[in-house]
Amino acid sequence: MSVTFFITCLLVVTVVGAEVAPDEFQRQFDVVIMAKFDQLEAKVRDQEIQLKMARDEILSLKTKVQRLESVLVENANTKSRSVGSNRIVADKAMAATSSALFVPRTCQEARESGLPEFKDSGMYWIDPDGLEIGDGAIYVYCNMTTGATTVGHDSEATIEIPKCSNAGCYSRSIVYNGGSLKQMKALAEISANCHQTIQVNCLGGPFTVNGIDYAWWNDVSGTKQNFWSGSEESIHICQCGIENNCVRPDLECNCDANVAVSLSDNGNITLKRVLPVTKLNFGQINHNGGSHTLGKFTCSGKPSYAYPSSCADLWRIGYTLNGLYPVQGSKRVEFIHCDFSLGQNVQEKKIGYADVKTQAVEFYVQRSDELLSSSPKVIPFNVEILNEGGAMNLVSGTFTVPKTGTYLFDFSGVKDTSSGAMSVVFSVNDVKKASTLGDDPGQFTMNLPSIWHLVKGDTVKLTMSSGTLYSDDRNGPLVHFTGILLEEDIVFV
Ligand SMILES: *[C@@H]1O[C@H](CO)[C@@H](O)[C@H](O)[C@H]1NC(C)=O
Ligand SMILES: *[C@@H]1O[C@H](CO)[C@@H](O)[C@H](O)[C@H]1NC(C)=O
Repeated sequence: MSVTFFITCLLVVTVVGAEVAPDEFQRQFDVVIMAKFDQLEAKVRDQEIQLKMARDEILSLKTKVQRLESVLVENANTKSRSVGSNRIVADKAMAATSSALFVPRTCQEARESGLPEFKDSGMYWIDPDGLEIGDGAIYVYCNMTTGATTVGHDSEATIEIPKCSNAGCYSRSIVYNGGSLKQMKALAEISANCHQTIQVNCLGGPFTVNGIDYAWWNDVSGTKQNFWSGSEESIHICQCGIENNCVRPDLECNCDANVAVSLSDNGNITLKRVLPVTKLNFGQINHNGGSHTLGKFTCSGKPSYAYPSSCADLWRIGYTLNGLYPVQGSKRVEFIHCDFSLGQNVQEKKIGYADVKTQAVEFYVQRSDELLSSSPKVIPFNVEILNEGGAMNLVSGTFTVPKTGTYLFDFSGVKDTSSGAMSVVFSVNDVKKASTLGDDPGQFTMNLPSIWHLVKGDTVKLTMSSGTLYSDDRNGPLVHFTGILLEEDIVFV
């Protein structure tokens, strides 16, 4: 190329130089040649830089391919051992170090990973039902501003509905990119919201008239559905019905008017549980014309649980490491073992419950001097050894339950010789629940251990009948009352 160029220069210079003196010609020739030479040199330098960049890129790609190959081999090796993939999206550092391994379950996860390769919106591989589990990854559009995942299908274009007469005489199955309904189901399950739009042009061709469905769609489970917009599964309706602007105010869909006029209905189906649409069915197309346009399947967000209550909840949030997890039980925090190696079909085993209390409640009070009464009387106390939570009022002798749960109490006191038969009654909200009796003459120790399930606000008291509870300086306090919260009913709100 440079030789051709040189000759071209020479020719140009020769033509121009024909009218000037030979010396001047030589000078002009040199100037032109030098200028061209400089240009060429710059060009070569530029090419060299680009070549080096290309070489670097190839090198980097080579390394990447090698890394991916090693991961593939590694995965093939670990597959048989059913080791859960070490993907915890929240752990950015971990995701970064294993970025070659990281295949997000949703675009939301990809976005949250913060990895540079997921910076721009575009097509990405995701694996909603879990890496190395279930069906293979699917190729989807990720909007990295919103984190929305959009899955295309084979029926996005406007498709003509041919004339036919019976209910559902025309059907079209929808095949999603990647072809896996399992992946669609998983995607919906691990997203906060999903939607899919549909537009139908009709000329006649009613959807539902007098309770008879001429048109319907099948949901992800194959179930027949006749709501064309919104999230109310049991109501036949289109967008015009929701907005109250259908051509016939008494109908919920324009097409249901069933007239020889071009009409159309729109819908935006938002019931995540039944999406995406797997089949469209139309019928009673008496006039020519009619078409359907089904939107892509879009899901966004992630489910949130203030208190996960199962391994499935944990899976939806993104946990994949097998192990013991505390979750919300009916009354207490429970421990479950989760085996995530089957992904969505996570195996759960209940192990037991965790002893979780929002607050410690325990008291031990005493009476250091003799207590004499000629009539039934609530026993007050004057020595506080322990009163964690402050629920025991010594002066009034009343324990007010601060937390609903199961409590253990114990009372012990000595009946004085001077008393005849004497009893101590344990009451909850002033209702007698249990009692102990000193019937013998002489000194006698009365005991009253018991366990109760009590509700916050309940009051607990000990009432002595007439008589004397003995205590003296020599033997120390002889009247004891203890209580402790054994198990609290945890309220999950
Ligand atoms: C992402 O979604 C938002 C909201 O729907 C939209 O405005 C924006 O154009 C989308 N961006 C891309 C790149 O698709
Ligand atoms: C459909 O509903 C979703 C969720 O409410 C919304 O984000 C989306 O913009 C709607 N699409 C149309 C076309 O109305």
